Amino acid sequence: MWTELKTKADAVADRAILDLFDDARADEFAVQTQYMRFDYSKTNLDADTRALLLALAGSANVAARRDAMFAGEKINETEGRAVLHTALRNLDGGPVHVDGEDVMPGVLEILGRMEAYAAEVRGSAITDVVNIGIGGSDLGPAMAVQALSPYHDGPRVHFVSNVDGAHIADTLRGLDAKTTLVIVASKTFTTIETMTNARTARAWMLDQGGDPAAQFAALSTNLEKTSEFGIPAERVFGFEDWVGGRYSMWGPIGLSLMMAIGPDGFRAFLRGGQEMDRHFCAAEGADNMPLMLALVGIWHRQVLGHATRAVLPYDQRLGQLPDYFQQLEMESNGKSVTMDGGVVPVESGPVVWGAPGTNGQHAFYQLIHQGTSVIPCEFMVACEGHEPELRHHHDLLVANCLAQSEALLRGRTLDEARAKIAGKFEGAELERQAAHRVFAGNRPSTTLIYPKLDPFTLGQIVALYEHRVFVEGVILGINSYDQWGVELGKELATALQPVVEGTASAEGKDGSTRSLIAYLHAHRS
Ligand code: F6P
Repeated sequence: MWTELKTKADAVADRAILDLFDDARADEFAVQTQYMRFDYSKTNLDADTRALLLALAGSANVAARRDAMFAGEKINETEGRAVLHTALRNLDGGPVHVDGEDVMPGVLEILGRMEAYAAEVRGSAITDVVNIGIGGSDLGPAMAVQALSPYHDGPRVHFVSNVDGAHIADTLRGLDAKTTLVIVASKTFTTIETMTNARTARAWMLDQGGDPAAQFAALSTNLEKTSEFGIPAERVFGFEDWVGGRYSMWGPIGLSLMMAIGPDGFRAFLRGGQEMDRHFCAAEGADNMPLMLALVGIWHRQVLGHATRAVLPYDQRLGQLPDYFQQLEMESNGKSVTMDGGVVPVESGPVVWGAPGTNGQHAFYQLIHQGTSVIPCEFMVACEGHEPELRHHHDLLVANCLAQSEALLRGRTLDEARAKIAGKFEGAELERQAAHRVFAGNRPSTTLIYPKLDPFTLGQIVALYEHRVFVEGVILGINSYDQWGVELGKELATALQPVVEGTASAEGKDGSTRSLIAYLHAHRS
């Protein structure tokens, strides 16, 4: 199938996407649910290519793997774990079994405890909540808390992730330790950055007259470690190893979001995720949004070889969404070994990056439009914002979003460029100036458009991308749910710490590392 797809890609390489448009294309190359529309008509996909991609998904048994995931089978084969973040949002979907046991009573019990605790904190003197976590224990809730700021009616929520002391120092400065709750979010409760920050926060609270025994909560699968840290069981919200770190914001790791938007808002977010799950399980072929989003991604990365993918939300409050998707995609699918230990026959997942529009337009879009590499762009935009009094801002925002995908599609020819500046220059200078103003165009983009960024919609967007990553992983034949590639750096950092501190020798390290350490020791007090 890969060969057929590559042959097809070569055959259509020079055609203009714009020429593919007839009256039907915009609808035929879009997936629309009751709640949102995903438009991929501005890509070089045609019906034949789409059929090949769907056949690729069929031959990889995507539907069977999907059903296995939802049924609690241990599809995370390298760690022997089920993958059931979907159970965390299965509010009214019936039993889900792992090893013959229904996990739903436990899921709903923890959700109920979170809700009771959030209600208690939101009705108390607590003014600020600090979530200490990193990676999946930070990016999801931090992204969602920002995304849903119009729905905040609880304490202020802050996030500390980096082990750089600057992060916790800047966050705690100005907070009142007596009215601050610290949530230590760590699936393993061993992550060095999180535990270092948690200890610093505890020392700060003690020093500033707060009461860590009452003002710390923990979110983890490791109940032994949370108790060793001294957090009483009633403020520990546990989850199971079948929730992957970067898929964990739907359960206890989402507590900071629940503090901000309240239990009802959080349930609406869960219902959004569940809605996308239902769609993913029920919609067939080209009507399936996560499947098509994944196949467009496969077309761009594995077939056409475009190394990166830009995520461009025209929504300031989705400012952290590119970072969140970066971990979701790159930690899940940045792998070169197949499930059975073989070699992935095509490129692994793309580099995911981006920033909200319109800011990005004034920073990096130059390269997207006129650079030598093609960067598939994923635009996102809401039909309306949360500031009705600023409707003209939103209209301008949407116009910019649509204009960018139009510009990428159309480009500007040399003749058009010449015509634009004909009055200003002539002769050779006209030719020289016009060349700089040419846009090749024919650059692919997709657009996800939704009514409004409310909790329900955000839940759908996050679940949509989770399932997209799942589908891509199945097609690549990899395990999207482990992350062995982060281990080596962690081990070496632990070994290097005493060397940096000056209590161990750098002997045995490579020349570069040795000389950097020598420079470090020579230049600090
Ligand atoms: O760096 C890898 C990683 O394990 C991520 O997958 C995870 O989200 C993050 O570290 C944090 O882990 P934990 O929640 O166990 O502290």
